[in-house]
Amino acid sequence: MKHLLSSKDLTREEIERFIDRAETFLPIVREKRSLDLAKGKILATLFFEPSTRTRFSFETAMLRLGGSVISNAMMKETSSSKKGETLYDSGKTISTYVNIIAMRHPQPGSVAELSRGSEVPVINGGDGPADHPTQGLLDLLTIKEHVGRLEDFTFVGLGDMKYSRVVHADVNLLSKFHSIRFIFVTPPELAMPSEYIEVLQAAGHSVEQHSDMLKALKEADVLVQTRVQEERFPSREEYFKYKGLYVIGEEEIKLMKKTSALLHPLPRVDEILPQVDCDPRAKYFIQAQNGVAMRMAIISELLAL
Ligand code: NCD
Repeated sequence: MKHLLSSKDLTREEIERFIDRAETFLPIVREKRSLDLAKGKILATLFFEPSTRTRFSFETAMLRLGGSVISNAMMKETSSSKKGETLYDSGKTISTYVNIIAMRHPQPGSVAELSRGSEVPVINGGDGPADHPTQGLLDLLTIKEHVGRLEDFTFVGLGDMKYSRVVHADVNLLSKFHSIRFIFVTPPELAMPSEYIEVLQAAGHSVEQHSDMLKALKEADVLVQTRVQEERFPSREEYFKYKGLYVIGEEEIKLMKKTSALLHPLPRVDEILPQVDCDPRAKYFIQAQNGVAMRMAIISELLAL
């Protein structure tokens, strides 16, 4: 595999290889140790959209592997794309400097465009509402860790399934496993796009869609809560129609099974109250830390270390 651009492209074997490798890195991450596996290699992080976890965890991953990082978190404002340079040309140039590139951009397909110019591996750190394969992989790592398996469980996606590239990636990856019951809880206007439902049904999974959060809380083994992403909506009025619609507080989390896991890619705005953080089912900060181990696995696999 050269680049990691899309969650759709990955086979079950490749997904399992990333997870197995990430599991070996988890103790390093949790003990805050470093290795020298990537000594002498350089990662460039090119971010055209805001990020806290994705960029920092990529950079931490490379540093914990013993490599180095160059970074621009404000590509849109300060890189030559502002002067009209194409992503293809940026890829051509930057790839002559570094060994591997991680990139985020608001436009679907943009990371693939840069990768066409690149002679080194390019990793998609989120391309608009389309895909976020590294987040999907770290979600699966977290599901395996806390539910114990990647099949025979109930997955609930809550909130905005239309624009959540995270749940789109989760769906593409989990579709490769067996016997998962998917429940998508959304207002009708933010329903899961039909292409993802079709992927799941074609793979033999059951799919339900409704808008009753309380019912779904009781049934979930894994519940992925999402932020209503203001930046994806055509207008502020449209965004305010959905903001605050599904909030998980102390009363709501009590409805979940004792053995279930509440995930959220973060950042949260108001959709999970901070009082929930100390509940044993709240796994979102562990999930964010798992992102470092998964990105160590991805970088080391793509660099064949
Ligand atoms: C998500 C993203 O950027 O898609 N965050 C992340 O990568 N951890 C979700 C979000 O921004 O709401």
